[in-house]
Amino acid sequence: MSKPVLLIVGPYPDFDMEVLEREYSVLKLWENVRIDEHADQIRALATRGDLGASKELIAQLPKLEIIACNGVGVDAIDFNSTRTRGIKVSNTPDVLNDDVADLTLGLMLGISRQIAKGDAFVRSGQWATTGWPLQMKMSGKRLGLLGMGRIGQAIAKRAEAFSMPVAYHTRNKRDDVGYAYYPALTELARDSDYLVAILPGGAGTQNIINAEVLKALGPTGIFVNVARGTVADEEALLQALENKTIAGAALDVYWNEPKINPRFFALENALLHPHGGSATLDTRKAMGKLVRDNLAAHFAGKPLLTPVG
Ligand code: NAP
Ligand code: 8YV
Repeated sequence: MSKPVLLIVGPYPDFDMEVLEREYSVLKLWENVRIDEHADQIRALATRGDLGASKELIAQLPKLEIIACNGVGVDAIDFNSTRTRGIKVSNTPDVLNDDVADLTLGLMLGISRQIAKGDAFVRSGQWATTGWPLQMKMSGKRLGLLGMGRIGQAIAKRAEAFSMPVAYHTRNKRDDVGYAYYPALTELARDSDYLVAILPGGAGTQNIINAEVLKALGPTGIFVNVARGTVADEEALLQALENKTIAGAALDVYWNEPKINPRFFALENALLHPHGGSATLDTRKAMGKLVRDNLAAHFAGKPLLTPVG
């Protein structure tokens, strides 16, 4: 029996590509494959959270049955098209919670204690002649979480070990967590030393971190974004950092990544990380396996393991 045809939107690690190429007839979009020559054969699409699947791409694939996303965030997939056409979608929840939460605490500590600058300071030899400035303590400070889902809860659990009081804002108050709930995001920002965004991107959350929220966070507050660049009004964030109306920001995600706004490069009070919340070997292997398991379930006529949308 011939192998199902799978179109992959952007490169996966070799350990994923090797297995997928054994199990499917793989086409690589980034190698400028002529979709029109294969449109009637392509039954599956494998993508990444950052690449998604646009309306235009889906429209070119009349036989598409499933989109498997390597990533939990599916904001870049056009769900109007998938729902209309009955195309299944899977993502990779839970297997990345620990890594994203670990990086979040790392970013919070990194900006508070200026770890990256400390490294540069020692390497440059400045330490021999100059004192290292005192930095901001993190333990015991107030953490506000915008989002209290799978990853938000993993961040909160870690923050508890730092004796940080945790509060959160979501649309719906949760009954299964004991943290303080804020119905208004600006109030949460006002009462937080660290405001961490960990909610989905997309139209519904675009610019939810706006000038008013940043003003409420105030000149001693730190903003951390491990969600999606789009959740923050970038002009408002840049102005808040440039004018020091917030103390700093630690960012894993941006508008237009990886070609981000160069104004970020000049900021002394920003810690910049290249969208890598889940980027460990262990977790990327687990995410890749979940992508393959969802594809395999679909082609075996079984329910998806982690359907979404
Ligand atoms: P999740 O379990 O679905 O949790 C999402 C949380 O966001 C929920 O608490 C939800 O609560 C809240 N939320 C959704 N819309 C909201 C809104 N308009 N206002 C306020 N709160 C809202 O998702 P997750 O697995 O924790 O992942 C969260 C996101 O993290 C992903 O979608 C992805 O974008 C991002 N992420 C980033 C990386 C990275 O590498 N930086 C890695 C993985 C994930 P309500 O529904 O009650 O509002
Ligand atoms: C990845 C992510 O960067 O899961 C998500 O939503 O943002 C990250 O895990 C990306 O999706 C890798 O494919």
